[in-house]
Amino acid sequence: MENINVMVIGSGGREYAICRKLKASSMVNKVFCAPGNPAMNKIGVEVLDIEENDYDKLIQAVELHQIAWTFVGGEVELANGIVDVFQEHHCKIIGPDKEAAQLESSKSFALKFMRKNNIPTAQSKTFSNKEVARKNITEFGFPLVIKKDGLAGGKGVYIAPDQEAALQFVDQQDVDAAHPLVYQECLSGQEYSVFILLDQNSYQVLPISQDHKRAYDNDEGPNTGGMGAYSPVPQLTSQQYEQIMKDVVEPTVKGVHREKFSYKGILYVGIMMTAEGPKVIEYNVRLGDPETQVVLPRIENDFAKLLNQVANNEKIDNIIISYESFINVVLAAKGYPQNPVTNQKIDLTDIPENIFIDYANVSEKDGVLYNQGGRILSVVGRAASLKEAQKEVYSFLNEHPISDTFYRKDIGNKAICD
Ligand code: AMP
Ligand code: GLY
Repeated sequence: MENINVMVIGSGGREYAICRKLKASSMVNKVFCAPGNPAMNKIGVEVLDIEENDYDKLIQAVELHQIAWTFVGGEVELANGIVDVFQEHHCKIIGPDKEAAQLESSKSFALKFMRKNNIPTAQSKTFSNKEVARKNITEFGFPLVIKKDGLAGGKGVYIAPDQEAALQFVDQQDVDAAHPLVYQECLSGQEYSVFILLDQNSYQVLPISQDHKRAYDNDEGPNTGGMGAYSPVPQLTSQQYEQIMKDVVEPTVKGVHREKFSYKGILYVGIMMTAEGPKVIEYNVRLGDPETQVVLPRIENDFAKLLNQVANNEKIDNIIISYESFINVVLAAKGYPQNPVTNQKIDLTDIPENIFIDYANVSEKDGVLYNQGGRILSVVGRAASLKEAQKEVYSFLNEHPISDTFYRKDIGNKAICD
C-alpha cells in the first residue's frame, strides 16, 4: 500500500518524534496529529484541532481525511477505551483496547498477569485499607516502595527511606478499594526501557534505551515523566539481553497472546537489571517519553511499514537497528514537576546537522513558540558514539540558554565510564 494518510493521537515530544519518523516514510502521504502541538506545523504535520477524547470528531476526521490507521501516543486515551470506540466504528487503530490497557492502568491487573505468566518482578502486596497498610509497614523492610494504583504519569511512586517516612506518606493517602496502595520490595540495578511492537500473531523488539526518571542530577529529586534518554545501552551485556528476552519478553508476549487480549501496538516493559536477573518494574501500553525520541531514530526500517503490518495483523518485518548513538536531554520549566512556570519564549535557531529538537508543551503566537508546561522540548544528539552524542547535546544546550528552564547534566553517564 502506497501513499496512505495516517493519524497520531497526542501532543507531546513523543508524538512529535513519532510524526517526524512517519513523515520520513515513502509510503505516507499525509501525517495528521490530534490535537498535536504548534511546532509540528513546521515539520509538515497537519495538526487537527480535536481533543484526544472527542471521539465523534476523531472518527469524522478518519473518514474526511481517509486515514488508513491511527496510532495512539498516550496511556490516558488507551485506558479510557479509544481503541474500543475506533473498533466499533471499523476504523483501524494501533493500541491495546481498554481491557488490555489495564496492564498499565491497574497495578493489581499487571501483578496478576505477571504471577500467572511467571514473569520476574518485585515482591509486592496490595492494600485497600489504611489501617491494614499501616500494620504491614515493615513487610519488605526499608527503603520501601509505595505505589498508588492507577495512572500517575510516572509520578505515582514514593520510595520511603524509613518507617517514619513510610507511615507519614500512608497517612496522607486516601486508601480504599478504588484507591489501593501497593507496597514493593525496593530493587536496585540499572533500569532499561524495552519496547515490544506486537500484534495478535507476531512481535519485534525495538532498540533498548535508558530513561532518567528523577528530576535532578545523580538520580536525586522527585520522580518525573523522564528527563532524558539514550540508546544504545552498551553496559547491558549480550548475555543480559538474552536473559531479558527469555525471562521477560517471551513470557510477556506469550501471556498477551494466550489471554487473547485485543492488543496491537507497543508494550513497554520497564526492567531493572538486579543481581538476581531482570525484574519487571512496570508495564506501560505505549511508547515512552522521552525514550521514543532516541529509539525511533535507530530504526532503519520504514516505521510506517512496520505499523501498517501491525494495523493489518501481517507478520512484522525484522527490525534493522542502526549502529549510531542517540542521546536526548529534556529541557523542563523551572519548578517542574511540582510547579512549573510557563510562557518563556522558546527561540532555537542555528540547529546543527546532528541535533534534532522534539517539541512538547509549546504554544504559538505570531510565529513564536512559548512554553506551556513542564517538559518543553528535548534536544536529541546523533553521533557515532554516545560520548560524542552527549558532547553535541550539551554544547548545544550551553550555547542556547533559555531563562527559567533547567535540564539534567548527567544524561548518558551510566553508560559512559571514562
Ligand atoms: P513506576 O511508576 O512503577 O514506573 O515507577 C517509577 C520509578 O520508580 C521507576 O522507574 C523506578 O525508578 C522506581 N521504582 C518503581 N518500583 C521500584 C522498585 N520496586 N524498586 C526500586 N525502584 C522502583
Ligand atoms: N519515560 C517514562 C515513561 O514514558 O513512562
